[in-house]
Amino acid sequence: MCGIVGYIGKNKKAIEVLINGLENLEYRGYDSAGIAYISDNELNIIKEKGRIQNLKNNLNLNTESRLGIGHTRWATHGAANKNNAHPHRCNNITIVHNGIIENYIELKEELMNIGYTFKSETDTEVASALIDYLYSKYNSMDKAIIEFENKAKGAYAIGIIVNGNNDNLYAIKKGSPLIIGVGNNENYIASDVPAIISYTKKYITLNDGEYAKISEDNIEVYNEFGKIINKEIKEFEGDANSIDKCGYEHYMNKEIHEQPEVIKKTSDMDNLPNINNFSKITIVACGSAMHAGLVGKNLIENYGNIPVDVEIASEFRYKKLFLNKDNLVIAISQSGETADTLEAVKIAKKYGCHTLGIINVKESSIARECDDVLYTKAGSEIAVATTKAYSAQVEILSILAYTLAKNSDNVKSIVEIKNFLEDLKKLPIVMQEVIDDEDTYKNIANKIYNKNDIFFIGRGIDYALSMEGSLKLKEISYLHSEAYAAGELKHGTISLIDDNTPVLGIVSDEFISDKTISNLKEVKSRGANVIYITTDSLNKNGDFYDDKIVLPTVNPLLQPLVNIIPLQLIAYNVAKLNNCDIDKPKNLAKSVTVE
Ligand code: F6R
Repeated sequence: MCGIVGYIGKNKKAIEVLINGLENLEYRGYDSAGIAYISDNELNIIKEKGRIQNLKNNLNLNTESRLGIGHTRWATHGAANKNNAHPHRCNNITIVHNGIIENYIELKEELMNIGYTFKSETDTEVASALIDYLYSKYNSMDKAIIEFENKAKGAYAIGIIVNGNNDNLYAIKKGSPLIIGVGNNENYIASDVPAIISYTKKYITLNDGEYAKISEDNIEVYNEFGKIINKEIKEFEGDANSIDKCGYEHYMNKEIHEQPEVIKKTSDMDNLPNINNFSKITIVACGSAMHAGLVGKNLIENYGNIPVDVEIASEFRYKKLFLNKDNLVIAISQSGETADTLEAVKIAKKYGCHTLGIINVKESSIARECDDVLYTKAGSEIAVATTKAYSAQVEILSILAYTLAKNSDNVKSIVEIKNFLEDLKKLPIVMQEVIDDEDTYKNIANKIYNKNDIFFIGRGIDYALSMEGSLKLKEISYLHSEAYAAGELKHGTISLIDDNTPVLGIVSDEFISDKTISNLKEVKSRGANVIYITTDSLNKNGDFYDDKIVLPTVNPLLQPLVNIIPLQLIAYNVAKLNNCDIDKPKNLAKSVTVE
């Protein structure tokens, strides 16, 4: 959600570094982009609406410059146009910003009363004016930043260039992610590692409230009171390949294909926290991570025998809660930066709950906030629509369900899942076979890509998978799609089923498979085009479907990881047939750092 990059140094041309960095951060937002750089002692600001490519078309990448900041935007305040694009400059201060200044209206009024005028609708321009005002008042950037942090409410990460000071780049972090890349006679700032990984693997993370004064050969980090502090230099584990498409047309397809490997890596879990003694589990998450939580709820309740609530983090934040210290709260997040999930964790801690994060990005805000963390080993996920991180989240939840089941006295569970660890080892091969069945998914996509309304139905865990399948399809193909609990259709929604309305029915739970098949018969007899997705052990023939996908049966705790693959690949192929911008769907951004 907005990407920031900054460079200071004499080894490279700043503009090239900024554009390369922004291209690798474009998944964070892509409705406009801009850079500010110093060349011949002059500050230049260039911005464009739309993708980085538009900006690039208006730049000379060879321009000599050793200091610059750049931004790719996901609009929060004001339309997505050139005027609202970052960087924003006010007199001596030019900034790029990720996050929201919540009290910007009051601040704007105060600044207008003392003569400041504004050209854009953004909170960022207000931030630049406030820093400018404080800088002119104190003639000190340290004092200006400290007071800015006291005055500006909300979450923000900011990169700053100060007029007349070509030797420093400033960075502030409060709530939104920001790292400092450490080089040799050159340094960087970035919202995320992909922006700088091709230049350096060394980085420093800033904590909330900290700010940095960066020159080409020095990095000084200060706490919120202006006291200089020591920071550890860390090393990123991945390499530039992790952000390369590696020959795939889209990151999404690459990431779907990486799933067997991700499952293998994530299965390597030692030091699982002991979660046996909680009377209840509450899962907080958003979007697909919440859907992973719903799969986890089914697994943990059925096999681990503990009640689980799954809460949409943005709802959890503002509702009456009945939590206590016997409640384990699990936060699931790929980015580890989702604002609502982060806040949900903070709230849970206030109730005395133990918090466990299932997180993909190391050192991210949610990872740092949780008492315990289990990392999904999905690597960098670039496509906005999650696939491999979702699967890794489900995998960890199934491992937790297994651990609980193993330690319980629920004999039925123990028998059903007894070969779990061996089955988990074999799973990547099974997943690969399912992924390789490409023609099947292309064939289904061909039949549904031009339909307006598509339904996914299932019961229990298959309903949870339906929700994820439906979200994948709608977010990248823009087709209207809905997921329904199969038994609920006839309570209203069935009136939408018409001739040839595609209905994808997921039937993988033996206990209720006949019930879902009855529901498929109901929609089939009303004209629906039924795509029946089932497992080889439950496979039924009949006239209740038009197309059928039969998946390998695996350990029940792992079955969702097989079943999700056709749904991801159908969504991908439908979006491809509709010529959609698959990796960057309209209006979306990865890492939602605003509430
Ligand atoms: C959908 C998708 C989103 C995210 C959601 C939570 O494909 O990716 O729904 O799952 O925004 O993001 P994280 O997992 O980063 O907290």
